[in-house]
Amino acid sequence: MRKIPIIIDGDPGVDDSFAIALANSCPDFELVALTAVEGNVPAEKTRLNAMGLREALDINCAVAYGAELPLEKAYLSYAEKTHGESGVGTIQWPELKKAPDDRSAWDLIYEEAVKRKGELVLIAIGPLTNIALTLRKYPDFPQYLKRFYIMGGGTFGNVTKQAEFNIWVDPLAAREVFEKLEVHMVGLNVTHASALTEKDFDQMISLCKGENSAIRLLRDLSVFSKRNSLKSGMDNHIIHDALTVASVMDSEVVRYEPYYVYVEDKEGMENVGETVIDLAGQSGNQPNCLVAMEVNQPKFVEMLMEMCRYYATKG
Ligand code: RIB
Ligand code: CA
Repeated sequence: MRKIPIIIDGDPGVDDSFAIALANSCPDFELVALTAVEGNVPAEKTRLNAMGLREALDINCAVAYGAELPLEKAYLSYAEKTHGESGVGTIQWPELKKAPDDRSAWDLIYEEAVKRKGELVLIAIGPLTNIALTLRKYPDFPQYLKRFYIMGGGTFGNVTKQAEFNIWVDPLAAREVFEKLEVHMVGLNVTHASALTEKDFDQMISLCKGENSAIRLLRDLSVFSKRNSLKSGMDNHIIHDALTVASVMDSEVVRYEPYYVYVEDKEGMENVGETVIDLAGQSGNQPNCLVAMEVNQPKFVEMLMEMCRYYATKG
């Protein structure tokens, strides 16, 4: 069977790193590119982390640099408490050998989508700045996308009561994306229901045997996530971005329902950054979004264990 071409746009990020490792372990995926956006840590770090992940996981793909700042929002707050100063826990990258693509993230995403004649699946696991810029520069972009998934939004927030981080960082970008693309939205309501236990992390760590760079990366990320999740208020036991990738790999992992969703992007509104989901169909608008409403947590956890076994077999 022909592999599914995938581009992952993200802000690595510990959970982004698990997501990229999971995608790279999937035999049905051709990982075409990783594109970096500002978010968990400043853009220069998310860029370096995307480059480091490519080499640590030995991924034959491009890496392209995207936006350094949100479209309009004047301020950003990073998430080093959750992801570490570097953005990838305690990991220090060795001297990297490969260079980034000379295209911007938005040029690469569009050109690769056209080249794959509508077969490309795009997964955004960070703020949506790069996706909005792709749509602004190339208005015909939607016709070249097979499906589009995001980790973001949901029925509640983690920055404010209503706003989830990826949407909150760039609400204008998110509004424009939801207006122009059909979004498969993996939000906090399902990522929180997919949380790992300490025992799950212990099993991942025990499966991450071996000294290849990928297994060392996964072991370090698992040790960091387990330790950090025990600190009050931290959510490292919720591997948000990996659940998004898992739902692309296996349609049984998450159940989606169609709803009309818009993003509140007006600064000053109490719910700025909210993905407002018209659950009762009161807006009269046609559904534009497939909202993840249920998750098979044991299946998701087993996929993470399978990922560790995959990299452990590489010796
Ligand atoms: O709210 C969780 C999301 O924000 C995840 O994608 C995490 O990596 C951060 O980007
Ligand atoms: Ca992310």
